Amino acid sequence: MSMALTIFEEIFIPYLTRADMVLLHQPFSDAYGAYRALEELYDGGKIRAIGISNFYVDRMVDFAAFNRIKPAINQVEIHIFNQQKQMKEYADKYGIRLEAWAPFGEGRKGTFDNEAVAAIGSKYGKTAAQVMLRWHIQRGIVVIPKSTHRERMEENFNVFDFNLSEEDMDALAALDTASSSFFSHQDPAMVEWFVKMVEERKTKHDSSKEKKNW
Ligand SMILES: NC(=O)c1ccc[n+]([C@@H]2O[C@H](COP(=O)([O-])OP(=O)(O)OC[C@H]3O[C@@H](n4cnc5c(N)ncnc54)[C@H](OP(=O)(O)O)[C@@H]3O)[C@@H](O)[C@H]2O)c1
Repeated sequence: MSMALTIFEEIFIPYLTRADMVLLHQPFSDAYGAYRALEELYDGGKIRAIGISNFYVDRMVDFAAFNRIKPAINQVEIHIFNQQKQMKEYADKYGIRLEAWAPFGEGRKGTFDNEAVAAIGSKYGKTAAQVMLRWHIQRGIVVIPKSTHRERMEENFNVFDFNLSEEDMDALAALDTASSSFFSHQDPAMVEWFVKMVEERKTKHDSSKEKKNW
């Protein structure tokens, strides 16, 4: 049994009868060992699907090719300004479903106020948020929008009664800047930040403080 599996079993398994899905959060440290631990739990029926998160396209292809069980999902930053077009091509090729974190880009760079998005929304009687969610869904991308407001949650669910035209999908595709609104997992300074966070977590854990460093 791998060390990663032992740790995972000690921490999670006592609370877990069966999880629908577990994702490996970052492509750092012993990612292969950790993924093999997930494969063992998948084999044992403890997890119904396993996947990865924040794996850029090269890491994703490597993982799909060299692991026994292909990741079902890769959860990465995807929104109108960072559309991950090459990643989508390769995800389709390897049968991996992409899932968008920050599907609205957390509103950064004015996603909710973008004029092109608003103009498309007005054609369908939909908000910018609804247009962005519908665009993800029509691209075949799983979306997990976050809201702390009930009315926005309802708004975000209300996206299954319209279809964006091909022309509108193309107009939204043109907004891509192919760059992150947050940070790069390939930035060595960011990797060092993750290392520091992991070290600190061994003694104390306050996730609200971790987020402020972004
Ligand atoms: N795997 C990873 O590394 C990773 C990284 C980041 C995030 N995530 C996950 O991805 C999920 C979503 O991402 P996210 O929260 O970062 O970004 P997001 O869903 O793009 O944006 C959330 C923001 O949008 C606002 N919002 C939501 N619906 C809205 C609407 N209809 N109209 C106007 N504003 C709206 C929310 O405000 P209010 O709450 O005030 O409504 C919140 O400020 C979360 O579950 C998060 O845990 C994963």
